[in-house]
Amino acid sequence: MNRQAETIETNEFEVKVDHSANRQSPLFDMPTLEQLKPQQESFQLLDDGERRSNIAVLERKDNLDFLRDQPGEKFKLIVTSPPYNIGKSYEARSSLDEYLAGQEAVIRECVRVLHPQGSICWQVGNYTDKGEILPLDSLLFPIFRGFGLKLRNRIVWHFGHGLHCSKRLSGRYETINWWTKGDDYTWHLDPIRVPSKYPGKRHFKGPRKGELSGNPLGKNPSDVWEFPNVKNNHPEKTIHPCQFPVELVERLVLSMTDEDDDVLDPYVGVGASVIAALKHKRNGYGCDIVEEYISIARERVKDFQSGDLKTRPMGKPVYNPALPNGGH
Ligand SMILES: C[S@@+](CC[C@H](N)C(=O)[O-])C[C@H]1O[C@@H](n2cnc3c(N)ncnc32)[C@H](O)[C@@H]1O
Repeated sequence: MNRQAETIETNEFEVKVDHSANRQSPLFDMPTLEQLKPQQESFQLLDDGERRSNIAVLERKDNLDFLRDQPGEKFKLIVTSPPYNIGKSYEARSSLDEYLAGQEAVIRECVRVLHPQGSICWQVGNYTDKGEILPLDSLLFPIFRGFGLKLRNRIVWHFGHGLHCSKRLSGRYETINWWTKGDDYTWHLDPIRVPSKYPGKRHFKGPRKGELSGNPLGKNPSDVWEFPNVKNNHPEKTIHPCQFPVELVERLVLSMTDEDDDVLDPYVGVGASVIAALKHKRNGYGCDIVEEYISIARERVKDFQSGDLKTRPMGKPVYNPALPNGGH
């Protein structure tokens, strides 16, 4: 990766996001984000009787430069989807060795800034070469492991839409590789439980006869996740060719961080990771080399702040053409 060519001037933007704004509290006369100067300005308001606010930091910057400015062990969650070196508009295709060396440099910095109880979620698909597919997670595995991280799950993200292949099966999944820095990592299952198949099922014999056999909060969502990818009919669609659905990042934020923790996306694109963090009262940080993406990310943060951002709700069933109204 030719980082020299990709490094462009810094363009900082920092706002503090107050959650009471989204509840449209009549108690406070809040300044709008437009009234704030773009750098280092902040506001903080009361929320549920407590003094709290969360910040969004979005910089147009090469991620190595951004990461080198960050203190060690700051981020509880680093969640990202890097370029796959397949010639998308935002990437210069390089040799596989150069690509992996570039990834190693970024991952090294991510490990440095990762909190001791923190997680890295690296979401990748395949690198393709003349019809041959090379799964990036298997190529990146030795890099993460070489930095001492431990793989906790290789989550399969299954989605419905993509290219139709003629000489092989059409690809309909990518993986989210969840690595932790240590064995004592932040992890909450309850906020991400999903409805059980048979919620009222009870033990029919034994000492617990008659008691509910499953967890009343729902079941573990497993390591196969079904979220629609962001295509034209998705409410979050922007000009970005491959943005994260916010609901996907929300699940990672809720399970791997606590309120007020810092969440980073070093390839933030149009800001889904920052929005997912803010939605759940975490601080969101992100950088991208494309000015237009960062501008859109900032607009989306402003829309979130004013309550105007449309996101696909967590838990909404995937459209099923076999059901009336698609099952919605
Ligand atoms: C797969 S996309 C990620 C999209 C993002 N998950 C979203 O929801 O919008 C990869 C992004 O990495 C950005 N990028 C590529 N090289 C970069 C670099 N060296 N530093 C920062 N961002 C970079 C691209 O501009 C692109 O937006």
